[in-house]
Amino acid sequence: MARTPFLAGNWKMFKTGGEAAEFVEQFKPAVAGLTGRQVALAVPATALERTAAAAKGTGIIIGAQNLHWEKEGAFTGEISVGMIKDAGGSMAIIGHSERRTYFAETDEVVAKKVAAALSGGLLAVLCLGENLAQRESGEWEAFLAGQLKGSLAAVGGLDLANLIVAYEPIWAIGTGKTATADEAEKTQAHVRKELASLLGDAVASATRILYGGSVKPDNAASLMAQPNIDGVLVGGASLKADSFSGIVKY
Ligand code: 13P
Repeated sequence: MARTPFLAGNWKMFKTGGEAAEFVEQFKPAVAGLTGRQVALAVPATALERTAAAAKGTGIIIGAQNLHWEKEGAFTGEISVGMIKDAGGSMAIIGHSERRTYFAETDEVVAKKVAAALSGGLLAVLCLGENLAQRESGEWEAFLAGQLKGSLAAVGGLDLANLIVAYEPIWAIGTGKTATADEAEKTQAHVRKELASLLGDAVASATRILYGGSVKPDNAASLMAQPNIDGVLVGGASLKADSFSGIVKY
Protein backbone atom coordinates (compact mmCIF):
# COMPACT_ATOMS: atom_id res chain seq x y z
CA MET A 1 0.00 0.00 0.00
CA ALA A 2 1.27 3.45 -0.85
CA ARG A 3 2.05 5.54 2.18
CA THR A 4 2.13 9.29 1.49
CA PRO A 5 5.51 10.70 2.58
CA PHE A 6 5.21 12.87 5.70
CA LEU A 7 7.85 15.51 6.35
CA ALA A 8 7.46 17.18 9.72
CA GLY A 9 9.35 19.82 11.64
CA ASN A 10 9.42 19.87 15.43
CA TRP A 11 10.32 23.34 16.58
CA LYS A 12 10.64 22.33 20.24
CA MET A 13 10.89 25.45 22.46
CA PHE A 14 11.86 27.80 19.67
CA LYS A 15 10.02 30.67 17.94
CA THR A 16 7.52 33.24 19.08
CA GLY A 17 4.31 33.72 17.11
CA GLY A 18 5.93 36.51 15.13
CA GLU A 19 8.98 34.41 14.27
CA ALA A 20 6.71 31.54 13.28
CA ALA A 21 4.67 33.71 10.92
CA GLU A 22 7.88 35.03 9.37
CA PHE A 23 9.14 31.46 8.86
CA VAL A 24 5.92 30.47 7.09
CA GLU A 25 6.21 33.45 4.72
CA GLN A 26 9.75 32.39 3.77
CA PHE A 27 8.91 28.71 3.59
CA LYS A 28 5.68 28.94 1.56
CA PRO A 29 7.37 28.88 -1.88
CA ALA A 30 8.94 25.50 -1.03
CA VAL A 31 5.55 23.83 -0.69
CA ALA A 32 3.78 25.65 -3.53
CA GLY A 33 3.14 23.01 -6.18
CA LEU A 34 4.78 20.26 -4.13
CA THR A 35 2.63 17.16 -4.61
CA GLY A 36 2.60 13.60 -3.37
CA ARG A 37 3.70 14.43 0.15
CA GLN A 38 2.47 16.05 3.33
CA VAL A 39 4.41 18.75 5.15
CA ALA A 40 3.81 19.53 8.81
CA LEU A 41 5.09 21.77 11.60
CA ALA A 42 4.78 21.08 15.33
CA VAL A 43 5.05 24.46 16.98
CA PRO A 44 4.98 25.88 20.52
CA ALA A 45 1.42 26.13 21.88
CA THR A 46 1.68 29.92 22.03
CA ALA A 47 2.48 30.07 18.30
CA LEU A 48 -0.22 27.63 17.11
CA GLU A 49 -2.82 30.19 16.18
CA ARG A 50 -0.47 32.56 14.36
CA THR A 51 1.34 29.77 12.53
CA ALA A 52 -1.95 28.23 11.44
CA ALA A 53 -3.24 31.60 10.23
CA ALA A 54 -0.02 32.25 8.29
CA ALA A 55 -0.16 28.76 6.74
CA LYS A 56 -3.80 28.97 5.66
CA GLY A 57 -4.23 27.78 2.08
CA THR A 58 -0.72 26.31 1.83
CA GLY A 59 -1.65 22.76 2.82
CA ILE A 60 0.97 22.79 5.59
CA ILE A 61 -0.33 20.81 8.57
CA ILE A 62 0.12 22.64 11.88
CA GLY A 63 0.23 20.88 15.21
CA ALA A 64 1.25 20.89 18.84
CA GLN A 65 4.13 19.10 20.57
CA ASN A 66 2.15 17.71 23.50
CA LEU A 67 -1.37 17.56 24.89
CA HIS A 68 -3.38 16.46 27.91
CA TRP A 69 -5.71 13.49 27.53
CA GLU A 70 -8.66 15.03 29.39
CA LYS A 71 -11.06 17.35 27.58
CA GLU A 72 -10.73 20.00 30.29
CA GLY A 73 -10.11 20.23 33.99
CA ALA A 74 -7.85 21.41 36.78
CA PHE A 75 -4.55 20.60 35.06
CA THR A 76 -2.47 23.76 35.38
CA GLY A 77 -0.25 24.42 32.41
CA GLU A 78 -1.77 21.78 30.12
CA ILE A 79 -3.64 22.04 26.81
CA SER A 80 -6.37 19.77 25.45
CA VAL A 81 -7.10 18.32 22.01
CA GLY A 82 -10.03 20.74 21.69
CA MET A 83 -7.77 23.71 22.45
CA ILE A 84 -5.25 22.61 19.84
CA LYS A 85 -8.01 22.29 17.24
CA ASP A 86 -9.51 25.63 18.21
CA ALA A 87 -6.09 27.27 17.64
CA GLY A 88 -5.91 25.77 14.13
CA GLY A 89 -3.89 22.64 14.88
CA SER A 90 -4.69 19.24 13.41
CA MET A 91 -1.75 17.18 14.70
CA ALA A 92 0.20 16.53 17.87
CA ILE A 93 3.54 14.96 18.62
CA ILE A 94 3.18 12.56 21.55
CA GLY A 95 5.80 10.90 23.75
CA HIS A 96 8.85 12.66 22.36
CA SER A 97 11.98 11.46 24.19
CA GLU A 98 12.47 14.95 25.62
CA ARG A 99 9.04 14.68 27.28
CA ARG A 100 9.76 11.16 28.46
CA THR A 101 13.17 12.20 29.84
CA TYR A 102 12.61 15.70 31.26
CA PHE A 103 8.91 15.47 32.14
CA ALA A 104 8.78 11.84 33.25
CA GLU A 105 6.19 10.73 30.70
CA THR A 106 5.63 7.01 30.93
CA ASP A 107 4.22 4.66 28.31
CA GLU A 108 0.99 4.70 30.31
CA VAL A 109 0.63 8.48 30.04
CA VAL A 110 1.67 8.41 26.39
CA ALA A 111 -0.97 5.76 25.69
CA LYS A 112 -3.73 7.99 27.11
CA LYS A 113 -2.51 10.92 25.02
CA VAL A 114 -2.42 8.86 21.81
CA ALA A 115 -5.97 7.65 22.44
CA ALA A 116 -7.19 11.19 23.21
CA ALA A 117 -5.58 12.60 20.06
CA LEU A 118 -7.01 9.88 17.80
CA SER A 119 -10.48 10.01 19.29
CA GLY A 120 -10.44 13.80 18.97
CA GLY A 121 -9.52 13.61 15.30
CA LEU A 122 -5.89 14.79 15.44
CA LEU A 123 -3.01 13.18 13.59
CA ALA A 124 -1.07 11.52 16.41
CA VAL A 125 2.69 11.32 15.90
CA LEU A 126 3.82 8.78 18.47
CA CYS A 127 7.57 8.93 19.18
CA LEU A 128 9.74 5.96 20.14
CA GLY A 129 13.45 5.54 20.51
CA GLU A 130 16.20 3.79 22.41
CA ASN A 131 19.21 5.36 24.12
CA LEU A 132 22.84 4.72 23.26
CA ALA A 133 23.37 2.02 25.89
CA GLN A 134 20.31 0.13 24.61
CA ARG A 135 21.54 0.45 21.03
CA GLU A 136 25.03 -0.78 21.86
CA SER A 137 23.91 -3.68 24.07
CA GLY A 138 21.45 -4.92 21.45
CA GLU A 139 18.58 -4.36 23.87
CA TRP A 140 16.94 -1.90 21.44
CA GLU A 141 14.86 -4.55 19.72
CA ALA A 142 13.02 -5.63 22.86
CA PHE A 143 12.94 -2.09 24.22
CA LEU A 144 11.23 -0.64 21.14
CA ALA A 145 8.74 -3.51 21.03
CA GLY A 146 7.83 -2.80 24.65
CA GLN A 147 7.62 0.94 24.15
CA LEU A 148 5.35 0.50 21.14
CA LYS A 149 3.09 -1.92 22.95
CA GLY A 150 2.86 0.29 26.04
CA SER A 151 2.26 3.47 24.07
CA LEU A 152 -0.52 1.88 22.01
CA ALA A 153 -2.21 0.16 24.93
CA ALA A 154 -5.32 2.37 24.77
CA VAL A 155 -6.10 2.47 21.04
CA GLY A 156 -8.50 -0.48 21.02
CA GLY A 157 -11.61 0.31 18.98
CA LEU A 158 -10.22 3.59 17.61
CA ASP A 159 -9.74 4.47 13.95
CA LEU A 160 -5.99 4.26 13.36
CA ALA A 161 -5.86 6.07 10.02
CA ASN A 162 -4.44 9.14 11.81
CA LEU A 163 -1.72 7.24 13.64
CA ILE A 164 1.88 8.00 12.66
CA VAL A 165 4.90 6.48 14.41
CA ALA A 166 8.23 8.30 14.62
CA TYR A 167 11.40 6.35 15.39
CA GLU A 168 13.85 8.76 17.00
CA PRO A 169 16.95 7.14 18.46
CA ILE A 170 17.88 9.32 21.45
CA TRP A 171 21.57 9.12 20.55
CA ALA A 172 20.86 10.73 17.17
CA ILE A 173 18.78 13.68 18.42
CA GLY A 174 20.60 16.99 18.21
CA THR A 175 23.95 15.21 18.08
CA GLY A 176 24.72 15.42 14.39
CA LYS A 177 25.07 11.64 14.59
CA THR A 178 22.35 10.23 12.31
CA ALA A 179 21.50 6.57 12.22
CA THR A 180 22.70 5.35 8.83
CA ALA A 181 19.91 4.82 6.33
CA ASP A 182 20.50 1.05 6.62
CA GLU A 183 20.38 1.10 10.40
CA ALA A 184 17.20 3.21 10.44
CA GLU A 185 15.60 0.95 7.80
CA LYS A 186 16.40 -2.20 9.74
CA THR A 187 15.02 -0.70 12.94
CA GLN A 188 11.88 0.61 11.30
CA ALA A 189 11.23 -2.73 9.63
CA HIS A 190 11.33 -4.18 13.14
CA VAL A 191 8.89 -1.52 14.38
CA ARG A 192 6.53 -2.34 11.50
CA LYS A 193 6.70 -6.04 12.31
CA GLU A 194 5.82 -5.27 15.93
CA LEU A 195 2.97 -3.02 14.77
CA ALA A 196 1.63 -5.93 12.74
CA SER A 197 1.72 -8.25 15.71
CA LEU A 198 -0.08 -5.69 17.89
CA LEU A 199 -2.62 -4.26 15.45
CA GLY A 200 -2.64 -6.52 12.40
CA ASP A 201 -1.08 -6.45 8.94
CA ALA A 202 -3.47 -3.92 7.44
CA VAL A 203 -2.70 -1.29 10.08
CA ALA A 204 1.02 -2.04 9.95
CA SER A 205 1.20 -1.62 6.20
CA ALA A 206 -0.87 1.58 6.20
CA THR A 207 0.87 3.32 9.11
CA ARG A 208 3.59 5.77 8.27
CA ILE A 209 6.82 5.37 10.20
CA LEU A 210 9.05 8.44 10.30
CA TYR A 211 12.72 8.66 11.13
CA GLY A 212 14.01 11.49 13.35
CA GLY A 213 17.47 12.39 14.62
CA SER A 214 19.86 14.81 12.89
CA VAL A 215 17.96 14.80 9.60
CA LYS A 216 19.45 17.45 7.29
CA PRO A 217 18.94 18.45 3.65
CA ASP A 218 21.91 16.29 2.64
CA ASN A 219 20.77 13.03 4.27
CA ALA A 220 17.00 13.29 3.73
CA ALA A 221 16.97 11.66 0.29
CA SER A 222 18.94 8.57 1.31
CA LEU A 223 16.70 8.08 4.34
CA MET A 224 13.53 8.60 2.27
CA ALA A 225 14.72 6.00 -0.27
CA GLN A 226 14.32 3.23 2.32
CA PRO A 227 11.13 1.15 2.05
CA ASN A 228 10.24 1.45 5.74
CA ILE A 229 11.05 5.14 6.10
CA ASP A 230 7.87 7.00 5.19
CA GLY A 231 8.91 10.42 6.36
CA VAL A 232 11.09 12.39 8.71
CA LEU A 233 10.68 14.31 11.95
CA VAL A 234 13.16 17.16 11.97
CA GLY A 235 14.32 19.29 14.89
CA GLY A 236 17.19 21.74 14.34
CA ALA A 237 17.02 21.73 10.53
CA SER A 238 13.33 22.68 10.56
CA LEU A 239 14.02 26.05 12.21
CA LYS A 240 15.33 27.72 9.07
CA ALA A 241 13.15 27.99 5.98
CA ASP A 242 15.99 27.18 3.58
CA SER A 243 17.13 24.00 5.32
CA PHE A 244 13.58 22.71 5.89
CA SER A 245 12.81 23.51 2.24
CA GLY A 246 15.76 21.36 1.21
CA ILE A 247 14.33 18.50 3.27
CA VAL A 248 10.74 18.68 2.06
CA LYS A 249 11.98 18.79 -1.53
CA TYR A 250 14.39 15.85 -0.93
P1 13P B 1 17.24 17.01 15.55
O1 13P B 1 16.75 16.98 14.12
O2 13P B 1 17.63 18.39 16.01
O3 13P B 1 18.28 15.97 15.80
O4 13P B 1 15.97 16.63 16.47
C1 13P B 1 15.22 15.51 16.16
C2 13P B 1 13.97 15.54 16.95
O5 13P B 1 13.98 15.39 18.16
C3 13P B 1 12.71 15.78 16.23
O6 13P B 1 11.60 15.53 17.03
